[in-house]
Amino acid sequence: MPDSVVTIDRHILEQQQKYPEATGGFSGLMSSISFAAKIISREVNKAGLVELLGITGQENVHGEVVQKLDVYAHNVIVQMLGTCGYLSAMISEEREDLIPIPEGYPLGKYILTFDPLDGSANIDANVSIGSIFGIYEKLSSGDRGKKEDFMQPGNKLVASGYVIYGSSTMFVYSTGQGVHGFTLDSSIGEFLLSHETIKTPKKGKIYSVNEGNFNSWDDGIKNFIMSLKNPEAAGAKPYSSRYIGSLVADFHRNLLYGGIFLYPGNRRNPRGKLRLLYEANPLSFIIEQAGGYASDGSKRILDIQPESFHQRVPLIIGSEEDVRNCEKFIRESQ
Ligand code: AHG
Ligand code: MN
Ligand code: MN
Repeated sequence: MPDSVVTIDRHILEQQQKYPEATGGFSGLMSSISFAAKIISREVNKAGLVELLGITGQENVHGEVVQKLDVYAHNVIVQMLGTCGYLSAMISEEREDLIPIPEGYPLGKYILTFDPLDGSANIDANVSIGSIFGIYEKLSSGDRGKKEDFMQPGNKLVASGYVIYGSSTMFVYSTGQGVHGFTLDSSIGEFLLSHETIKTPKKGKIYSVNEGNFNSWDDGIKNFIMSLKNPEAAGAKPYSSRYIGSLVADFHRNLLYGGIFLYPGNRRNPRGKLRLLYEANPLSFIIEQAGGYASDGSKRILDIQPESFHQRVPLIIGSEEDVRNCEKFIRESQ
């Protein structure tokens, strides 16, 4: 019997049927996000061509205003999700303030945080990039989302996921019922279930960190990384270093193969570079659903109480044994 072909819309509906009280709004929201991902994927995959098509200043040969891809991705998500009727507010990496739902459009009970294009510095080098999102229920009274709604810890996430625009475009999400991956078949414009119930190995053989920052790390991180290169156990092999510089691409590889990704704080930036609301929390929800773990070095990322939209947080994420071992090195160095 051939395996059935499961589209993401069907999968979301099947997930939703597990919640009898569900109203269908959630599956509509997830479908709107996957639709936006298809539009961004189409643009990402022709980014190089846009350059080749003789860009004249602010306009390309189609007379369209050329936007940087991360602004383009931001605009697609704001437009698609702002009008879908399931949200009451959004937060984007590309906007300082809360993004309200435009007047005249229905309001929903969810709020969305997103990084429209992660790894955008890599676009011109044709390196894999991604989009990251997190969904919470609005808690405040009134129809419109407020800042306080976004100050929920990641352990209140209703769902999160990411899109990776790589050799293929994949949509990976969790609603708390495991992690599932879908690959875009662009010939039919459908995300098809390709990685059901992804589980990450408890211990990996890969570490991902920007070693250029080595001299500015605290001793605990330095000692941990050195331990991966010089394992004490007789005959043990050193870990492999793999660092793409696109969080989504590094995360996705480690999710599937096992391993640990670190963006620690350093002397220049004690909280590191990555943002809690739309990078660390959504990916931490995913990794825990896949059996891994995510920490800021001393505490669980998902338990951190946010204080501002764009606050940064040190991120140590991946195979649980590796992340716990890193925390141990940090404790022992204090
Ligand atoms: P963004 O493009 O959304 O600003 O994110 C870039 C981030 C992340 O993708 C990656 O892990 C990190 O920048 C790489 O930073 P370094 O170049 O400092 O290593
Ligand atoms: Mn990012
Ligand atoms: Mn970004």
